[in-house]
Amino acid sequence: MQITSKTSDPCDAAADLLAIPLLQPAEGAKGKDAVPSLSAAIRRMDRRMGGGISAALAAGDFQAAAGQTSLLYPNSSETQVKRVLLVGLGRAGDATADTLRRAAGSAVRRAGRGRNKRISIWLPRVKGVSADAAAQAVAEGAVLGSYRFDQYRDLGEADPGSIRSVTVFCTSDKGLAQVRRALTTGRTLAEGQNLARDLSNMPGNDLPPAKLASEARRMAREVGLRCQILEVAELKRRKMGGILAVGGGSARPPRLIVLEHKPRNKSAPTICLVGKGVTFDSGGISIKPSAGMEEMKHDMSGAAAVIGAMRAVAQLKLPLHVVGVIGAAENLPSGTAYRPGDVVRTASGKTIEVLNTDAEGRVVLADALHHARTEFEPDAMIDLATLTGACMVALGESATGLFGTDDALIERVRAAGEACGERAWPMPLFDDHRRAVKSTIADVKNTAGRDAGASTAAAFLAAFTGDTPWVHLDIAGTGWSSVVHPYQIKGGTGVGVRLLLEMLQNW
Ligand code: BES
Ligand code: MN
Ligand code: ZN
Repeated sequence: MQITSKTSDPCDAAADLLAIPLLQPAEGAKGKDAVPSLSAAIRRMDRRMGGGISAALAAGDFQAAAGQTSLLYPNSSETQVKRVLLVGLGRAGDATADTLRRAAGSAVRRAGRGRNKRISIWLPRVKGVSADAAAQAVAEGAVLGSYRFDQYRDLGEADPGSIRSVTVFCTSDKGLAQVRRALTTGRTLAEGQNLARDLSNMPGNDLPPAKLASEARRMAREVGLRCQILEVAELKRRKMGGILAVGGGSARPPRLIVLEHKPRNKSAPTICLVGKGVTFDSGGISIKPSAGMEEMKHDMSGAAAVIGAMRAVAQLKLPLHVVGVIGAAENLPSGTAYRPGDVVRTASGKTIEVLNTDAEGRVVLADALHHARTEFEPDAMIDLATLTGACMVALGESATGLFGTDDALIERVRAAGEACGERAWPMPLFDDHRRAVKSTIADVKNTAGRDAGASTAAAFLAAFTGDTPWVHLDIAGTGWSSVVHPYQIKGGTGVGVRLLLEMLQNW
């Protein structure tokens, strides 16, 4: 999808659909203030299309409430616009960058159902959102909203086809270069996120650890990242008993994937992004109930976020040394599977008592975190993992669990999440939680039971992070969407990509 910007009059540009975002009138407004107000440029469009917009407003059919849309058909030879879509932004005081992301998302999703190849969007001015931030959010919303996952079916005649171009119209030439750059940034982030969604949505049979690795390598070649894939012999040589134990039950062996972005400046800070890449989680010998087990194909969503983020890091040429480390394994029960009661020795030398083979993510991450820390000596380390059902119980689908050992890093991540519309909510990591994962026969045990399950999982990970500033993002709830949102269809969300890039860009 092509995204460009123009400052000409959108009525003059041929388009299958022109989206016009409008703000809702203030609460209790009376008379002519009670209908959404139109800028001079939009009033001109309204006149040229025969007054359809003002008629819809006067009839009370469109109040511009957040998420509301109204489709109009210009009946006039004075414009080359085929359809006009009014998109509600809600009230001025409530609108944020995410409001614009959602507006662009609904516009594109509405358009996607028709024969709309060329879309124009009027870039709205919203108080508190700069023109660049608005442009970036609109580009993100458009690219994320146009996402579909149909590589596994034959749509035949029913294929609505994809949107070819989105043109964003600004009112003035001032700052146009910046707006263009913001559009490119937005598109890059959203494409990274869509790649992550694709990986999360791919079925387990088609995405074993080796395929996750080859997908990472393919992306790395495309954008110029270094990619290293450690196979079983190398994992054994490095004594990565955690990854090997979890991957041992599957005929499709585990991998450790490393993606590295090297900036020109050799003294740039090093940041490691670590992802849980369990390509399918059956629970292993401690097998999960069958209801809903299919969703566990996205148990590599942390890895997907790392891959999507690394792509954007390379494309935006960030002046930072960023390294992605992914532990990839398939958790299945078999004659070679690890079992409850096992003690496994990780690369760090620390041993894990396995009390439940379904608490496998942390066992994989023990080795991945240690590898990131010792090979790259990062200034900060952030892991993303669909780690616990407990986190999903606590926060649902709308916030990622945020844990860590460094207050400044926690705040950086929290603020980045807030800014980009991917909320991460601080959760506790107490000494009690660290004590809870101590084992009587090994250094740590992989579960401390149900109580504070998300926090004890984080405490387990903390045992493998040494003194490296570290944050853990539990995306068990946010990695998968069970409902449709303006720029999110059901399924993999690609959560984390925007958050990581927002954080890295402000480093
Ligand atoms: N991958 C799951 C966590 C999960 C659950 C992710 C739901 C997304 C949605 C993880 O490996 C797991 O099974 N965790 C167990 C840990 C328990 C056995 C201590 C859990 O949360 O039940
Ligand atoms: Mn599990
Ligand atoms: Zn899992």
